[in-house]
Amino acid sequence: MKIKKITCIGAGYVGGPTMSVIAQKNPNVEVTVVDLNEARIAAWNDDDLSLLPVYEPGLDAVVGEARGRNLFFSTDVDKAIDEADMIFISVNTPTKTYGKGKGQAADLKYIELCARQIAAVAKSDKIVVEKSTLPVRTAEALKSILDNTGNGVNFHILSNPEFLAEGTAVTDLHNPDRVLIGGEDAEAIEALVQVYEAWVPRERILTTNLWSSELSKLVANAFLAQRVSSINAISELCEVTGANVDEVSRAIGQDSRIGAKFLKASVGFGGSCFQKDILNLVYIARTYNLHAVADYWEQVILLNDHQKSRFAEKIIKTMYNTVNGKQIAFLGWAFKKDTNDTRESAAIYVADHLLEEEANIIVYDPKVSAEQIYKDLDYLGTRSPEENRRLVKVVTDPYEALDGAHAIAVLTEWDEFKGYDWETIKEGMKRPSFVFDGRKLLDRKQLEELGFSYYAIGE
Ligand code: UDX
Ligand code: UDX
Repeated sequence: MKIKKITCIGAGYVGGPTMSVIAQKNPNVEVTVVDLNEARIAAWNDDDLSLLPVYEPGLDAVVGEARGRNLFFSTDVDKAIDEADMIFISVNTPTKTYGKGKGQAADLKYIELCARQIAAVAKSDKIVVEKSTLPVRTAEALKSILDNTGNGVNFHILSNPEFLAEGTAVTDLHNPDRVLIGGEDAEAIEALVQVYEAWVPRERILTTNLWSSELSKLVANAFLAQRVSSINAISELCEVTGANVDEVSRAIGQDSRIGAKFLKASVGFGGSCFQKDILNLVYIARTYNLHAVADYWEQVILLNDHQKSRFAEKIIKTMYNTVNGKQIAFLGWAFKKDTNDTRESAAIYVADHLLEEEANIIVYDPKVSAEQIYKDLDYLGTRSPEENRRLVKVVTDPYEALDGAHAIAVLTEWDEFKGYDWETIKEGMKRPSFVFDGRKLLDRKQLEELGFSYYAIGE
């Protein structure tokens, strides 16, 4: 079975970059990415590659190479389903905000809608690939919907979770540690293996059964997040004992059994995946009455929440227990550097906490729009949109945010912050001039010599 046409439903942070690289590396396979969101598709088709809806270093070059050749973006979902041999489902699976499992379970309504649409449209056999992160045994539900259409079409379901991290999506896709394919039908699995074999060495392509593949994705994210919460727990201990968390990280990370990655203490992890996937894991464990397992993983989230509010509390306490009317400049709003994604970003929760104390916040982020920042705050529902706009200002010039500020809070580790003219910034700020570095990004020695009061997580 040789795949000639691929369709992907969902042109988001996962679907867009993944399909762009698959098309780049398989010039003989026609790849069409479809989405219900017309504006998003229009942006993927924009002649100006700097306007792609997803900002990822290197993505413009990949899209520029493949788009129009064998990579297409479209809103015609039915046509793309009809023509494809292989269909990836890469729609979002947010945490449920209603009903059973509210706040924990993954909402699968978009996945089910996709399955029903595929079932309604398909006239020939298809391989359906789950790219979205899903609760274990979703494939079963998918298969049941697809198999009950009664029009004689055969569907093979594969699970192929994506492990790319935002900000490094293109390098991660070009050079993955592993590609994971779960499935039951050997021929269908082999067809997908061949797509990846165009650039990924065969020994890095792992094949498993469906459930192992689905579960592995949740577990990978849970383990990664757990490392961040583990080091963040230690950061609080370091602050009271005089140890330095970076030194501890380095010391333990050199143990090859522990490894050096994902041991950077921070204001807390964000992103669309970590919290959602752990909540999902917790929910699944509780469903099977495995409460000790559920409690264990839930603690990773609770510690992360603690870390975010601890950072905000530190700011308030240090500024003489009141931030009312004080100007606090936020450097960064994205959940990590090199992305315009703000989902679950720690900045949102730190801002919310400070706004409860009537602080005035001025935000600068190199890639996040004012519209997105207000949307994130409004979504919390803590205060009215008018109130958010009264208390929060968003600027496109960092020096405007910093001028006249009582304090600076570093929320994202953008490289450009390190190169700012800190001497000029110091002159423009109120005294004492506080810097709260939630990313341990800036140079303590330099800032202290300039007269800043510098606080960093875990020191
Ligand atoms: C999402 C999930 O967050 C992740 O867990 C999963 O692994 C892959 O899908 P992401 O690509 O970051 O990741 O989501 P998002 O950027 O929201 O993109 C999803 C896209 O699907 C959106 O553009 C949305 O418009 C589209 N969509 C959603 C459809 O086209 N049809 C639908 O029925 C629902
Ligand atoms: C993550 C997984 O890494 C990826 O494999 C999966 O496909 C999706 O979820 P992503 O959320 O894009 O990727 O970014 P990641 O680099 O994992 O960072 C997640 C959060 O943890 C960020 O807020 C980051 O700042 C934080 N983090 C990460 C730390 O605070 N310290 C670290 O040492 C590493």
